[in-house]
Amino acid sequence: MSQDNSSIGGSVAVDPNLPPDPSRRRWVTTACAVGGVAGVATAVPFVGSFAPSEKARAAGAPVEADISNIPAGQMITVEWRGKPVWILHRTAAQLEGIKKDNSVVADPDSARPGFTPAFAKNEFRSRKPEYLVVIGICTHLGCSPTPHLAPVDGAGLPSPWEGGFLCPCHGSIFDLSGRVYKNKPAPDNLEVPPYTFSADGKRITIGADDTSKA
Ligand code: FES
Repeated sequence: MSQDNSSIGGSVAVDPNLPPDPSRRRWVTTACAVGGVAGVATAVPFVGSFAPSEKARAAGAPVEADISNIPAGQMITVEWRGKPVWILHRTAAQLEGIKKDNSVVADPDSARPGFTPAFAKNEFRSRKPEYLVVIGICTHLGCSPTPHLAPVDGAGLPSPWEGGFLCPCHGSIFDLSGRVYKNKPAPDNLEVPPYTFSADGKRITIGADDTSKA
């Protein structure tokens, strides 16, 4: 099954004056946009995961995703516990770009508690640098940010911006490690879920390593 990520979820207006409230987090997409962004948002395929059953998944069972066919520089979305989980296969150039972000993101080492398991407390926020695995929900009020996987120019964006994730609701910007830029509404980096790689490196199981939960 293939589905454009932009069609997932309802269109919900969010009051920009509301304070951050984690209890109100919702997975929503919005039609609004931060002005002046010249780049084209990346369409992200939504892929089905392997077993378990719908009932088990709804109960929070781990889900497994095939990552062997994700081209470098592209990403997919899988659903885990009702949330979109992004798996981005980063290029060497994207990894170099992330290194330049350390001085402009709010929490470069993911030291703040609650959003990053111990295994991902590094600048790439991952078990393997080439793969980013994050929950695609903004840590401000729960909108789903828009991926921009190529350099982007635009008003209100870092210049140059190597790409990342832009939340259309109130303008939070995340780099390609899911790290929020300084002075943005989102209080934390995008959450990294517990996950493991298969022995051959071709699959990721999300939710399988709860001992490493943030
Ligand atoms: S929900 Fe407010 S910036 Fe993302």
